[in-house]
Amino acid sequence: MEILSVRNLGKIYKGMVSYEALSNLDLSINQGEFVGIMGPSGSGKTTLLNMISTIDKPTSGQIRIDGEDPYQLSQDKLALFRRRELGFVFQSFNLLNTLTVKENIVLPLTLDGVGIKEMNSRVDVLADKLGITSILDKRTFEISGGQAQRTAIARALIHQPKLVLADEPTGNLDSKSARDVMEILEERNREDQATMMLVTHDPVAASYCSRVIFIKDGQLYNEIYYGDNRAAFYQKIINVLSLLGGTGHEFPSVRI
Ligand SMILES: Nc1ncnc2c1ncn2[C@@H]1O[C@H](COP(=O)(O)OP(=O)(O)OP(=O)(O)O)[C@@H](O)[C@H]1O
Ligand SMILES: [Mg+2]
Repeated sequence: MEILSVRNLGKIYKGMVSYEALSNLDLSINQGEFVGIMGPSGSGKTTLLNMISTIDKPTSGQIRIDGEDPYQLSQDKLALFRRRELGFVFQSFNLLNTLTVKENIVLPLTLDGVGIKEMNSRVDVLADKLGITSILDKRTFEISGGQAQRTAIARALIHQPKLVLADEPTGNLDSKSARDVMEILEERNREDQATMMLVTHDPVAASYCSRVIFIKDGQLYNEIYYGDNRAAFYQKIINVLSLLGGTGHEFPSVRI
């Protein structure tokens, strides 16, 4: 079943000089897919994510999420739609530091009036899966970067969204924490069939996806699917990245 459909998407940033960041982009994501978006800096990845997450409006084309065109919704309905159907994970975590880890995680549920009992049980299950049970009562300035990112992931998943959108979720993490976070996302994708779309520069992170889409100059460049194993997929990703512009030498040989 198709969860995301992007048709003919175009985005022109108007200013002193207009800039076409995306043009004629088509994309379709099925329920349960784990899709990575890669491409050179400035190729339009964040722009694409912002259009899908309704942070910014497309100049042309159409987006449907679970059959719904979010841009046809009224302000109120759009706010609800984003809160209920989408989950966001940002590079900078975006946690509220006056709240505890647990309070941050349940925020989307409190806004929706979910009961305390239901809330607590969902937090317990998720915190256990993410390995953050012991820090639930800490404030966000008392936890590590990796723990903060897991907290952000818990918050993005707590309302069981149809689509999870992540922009560089491992960008601020060391390689060990980055792998942990990718393993967690991959596991949630596999076990709960959560559909995920993540933008990343990191070929190791991308190798956890089931499909990687490459963007160049605001257009689709290529896409590849996970094959037999992650090491082979990693190599395929590196190969496309090399063709895309990098020399390939900039990617350290890492153990996959
Ligand atoms: N608000 C804006 N106004 C004008 N131009 C913008 C704006 N946001 C992005 N751009 C331009 O659009 C292009 C695509 O930007 P975008 O942020 O989508 O790239 P990206 O692929 O996410 O890059 P990176 O990997 O560096 O994050 C860039 O050339 C950028 O300069
Ligand atoms: Mg970006």
